[in-house]
Amino acid sequence: MIENTSPRTVRFFIAGLGNIGRRFMSLVASQEGILAARYGLRLVPVGAADSSGAALDPAGLDASRIVAMKEARQGVAGYPSAGRPGLAVRQALAEAAPDLFVEATPTNLRDAEPGLGCIRDALGHGTPVVTASKGPLVLAYQELMGLAARSGVRLGFSATVAGGLPTVNLGRRDLAGSTVQRVEGILNGTTNYILTTMAEEGLSFDEALAEARRRGHAEADPSLDVDGWDAAAKLLIVASSVLHRPTTLADIDVEGIRGVTPRHLAQASRMGKVIKLLALAERVDDDYRLSVHPTALERVHPLARLSSWQMGVRYTTDTMGVITAVIDEPDPWPTAAAVLRDVIDVFGS
Ligand SMILES: NC(=O)c1ccc[n+]([C@@H]2O[C@H](COP(=O)([O-])OP(=O)(O)OC[C@H]3O[C@@H](n4cnc5c(N)ncnc54)[C@H](OP(=O)(O)O)[C@@H]3O)[C@@H](O)[C@H]2O)c1
Repeated sequence: MIENTSPRTVRFFIAGLGNIGRRFMSLVASQEGILAARYGLRLVPVGAADSSGAALDPAGLDASRIVAMKEARQGVAGYPSAGRPGLAVRQALAEAAPDLFVEATPTNLRDAEPGLGCIRDALGHGTPVVTASKGPLVLAYQELMGLAARSGVRLGFSATVAGGLPTVNLGRRDLAGSTVQRVEGILNGTTNYILTTMAEEGLSFDEALAEARRRGHAEADPSLDVDGWDAAAKLLIVASSVLHRPTTLADIDVEGIRGVTPRHLAQASRMGKVIKLLALAERVDDDYRLSVHPTALERVHPLARLSSWQMGVRYTTDTMGVITAVIDEPDPWPTAAAVLRDVIDVFGS
């Protein structure tokens, strides 16, 4: 516990104020007390950007006000006296010159913009980065880690692999000194929901997908989830960071869940199995074989038991035994909390 010392001020810029960014701003306000008392940190937003433009104030924006604006569906460019309609995020980041850049714009696996350009700029200027967005890591993990190392700053990304589930931190920190022989992950919440609902309620794939959408859990274009690419992107990040294997999406054998029928699920069930979309890394000689496939797991497998909104990872190692972590993640709060966890990890005393 830090006492009688004034907290260190971290002036941050945030790109993206949607599900994750807005909740992160809410945590910055609600956790102010413990950030100061436990970690000696005072987080001050000096810039924020969304698709409307940006708001910039070197003296600090009001995090709660930004949350209220976004909840009222207003663009941050409308922020009184600090709003800059139409200002591009990269330009806004340059003007803000923050101590920390937080990235929470949408993931796209084509060019990873606008996140990738912003992260390059920030790291290139010696600014630490925390990102929730997978795209930049999927397309440029080695480049970005090299850039961070040359600049002597950290790039935090634990939120990118199943949000609050400590997939990356467990693998990188707590398995130190062992060799991972196998990683099994249920890393995509939407597909786990769809398969679980199909199995338990007898719905077809289309009906289960419609139900996921109705509950606001699937994108308008669900292909990233249901075709397996979101899980593959997460497996790529695990392979690159935990397994130290430079990886591209082309290295991963990917199959989504569109072909899974209620009949497949019932058949598996009769054999004591449960079908899950499994992200798998298996050690073969000195390398890993990487895949994402609908897979029939024995019912006693710890990942077979995951319910609709759980995600999980199981590491099998040579010296550390077998470790499984599971999270209940029915909404985006744990991902926003994982972004905060990384900020504390980068700056906390
Ligand atoms: N949702 C989850 O549970 C979850 C979990 C783990 C990781 N992630 C990752 O976290 C990131 C954010 O996810 P999300 O669910 O918060 O997405 P989201 O709700 O779609 O929010 C995206 C935000 O980015 C803004 N934006 C879009 N294009 C922009 C641009 N060109 N310049 C500046 N801002 C732009 C949007 O502006 P407007 O507000 O004006 O539309 C919005 O505020 C994604 O990369 C996602 O993969 C999400």
